[in-house]
Parts: sequence; C-alpha cells; structure tokens
Amino acid sequence: MPVARKMISADAWLCESRGMLPNFVLIGFMGCGKSSVGRRLSSLTGHRFVDTDELVVKAEGRSIPQIFAACGEEGFREIEQRVLGDLVGVAGVVLSTGGGAILREANREALKKIGIVVWLDSEPSTLFERAIRSGKRPLLQTPNPRETFDQLLSARRPTYESVADFRFDSSLVDQEEAARKVLEQAMRLQSRRA
Ligand code: S3P
Repeated sequence: MPVARKMISADAWLCESRGMLPNFVLIGFMGCGKSSVGRRLSSLTGHRFVDTDELVVKAEGRSIPQIFAACGEEGFREIEQRVLGDLVGVAGVVLSTGGGAILREANREALKKIGIVVWLDSEPSTLFERAIRSGKRPLLQTPNPRETFDQLLSARRPTYESVADFRFDSSLVDQEEAARKVLEQAMRLQSRRA
C-alpha cells in the first residue's frame, strides 16, 4: 500500500538537523530577493549571512558602481571570483551572490562546492521593477534598461538552471515564507541524497 509522504515543516527540519545543516547558496537575477530571503534564511538556520557584493565592496573600499566605472565589468568579475574562491570550505553560511556570479566556470564550480545552490526566480516584470528601483546597478545604466534587462535575463537563465540544485519561484510568497520553503526544499533534497 502506498505510504503518504510525511510533510515535514521547516521547524521540524531544524529540530532534527541542528548542527548538520549544509550551507545555502542563493543565485538568481538582480532583484530576485537573494539578500532579503538570504537574511531570513540566516535567521531561521542560525547560519551567518554572507553577500559576495558586500565582500567585494569591503575588499575594494569602494562601491560597485565605482568599481565598474574604474575597472569595467571584467575588473569587477576578477574581484568577485577571488572573493568566491575564498569562500570554498567555509561552514555555516547562507551565501547571497551577485546576479552575474554564475557567468564564470570557476565560480560555478566554487558555488557547487560551497553548498546547496538555490536559484531564486520571479516574474520578469517583478525582477525588473526591483532591479531598477535602486538606480545603482551598473549593468542597467543603458539607454534602454528594459531591453538590456531582457537580453541579460534570457542569456543567463540556462546557466542559472544548470548550476542550481533547484529553482524556487518567489512570485507568490512573501520573503519569510520563501525562506521557509527554500529551507524545506533544500532539506528534502539533502535527505534524498543521504
Ligand atoms: C550584477 C548583479 C549585482 C552586482 C553587480 C553585477 C549582475 O548584484 O553583483 O551589479 O551581473 O547581474 P545583485 O544581483 O545583488 O543586484
């Protein structure tokens, strides 16, 4: 007789697996909520929240727009790769990555070594509204930001998909709920692999 699949909540997972939680790596396009969902996931798990963009800014002592202006995108990618490489081997972290961190093969390898890779995704229009809001994303400072956004998004989608252990669509849930559901899905994946 088929046995009904036991539904286990994020809280139950946390009780059962304290001390054995993997790292969580959040990837996804600008505006998908990596930082906000990541911070909530960090509170839920007790893992330290780490953001590659923040590490880049700290390492360079200047903002991302300033780094792009001074060193171009490739200069920024070099620093991003260095920062990511330094994170391989760390434990107890929720890592939020810049939207383009998946572009380099070395980074994709590093991300997979660091932890369970979760692709946070949303409706393109939602992503665009959030991404454009801050006015601080150098890649969107073009004559037609929406067109640039659409081109980048469709070029990157297959790469997010290839790196991710799973995709989570956060369109219909708030950030707290997204963090809980990501945790549940990650723990289900981990228990299937064990
Ligand atoms: C980038 C995304 C940004 C930041 C940089 C480049 C990208 O991070 O790393 O502006 O290439 O998509 P967020 O995804 O956090 O906005």
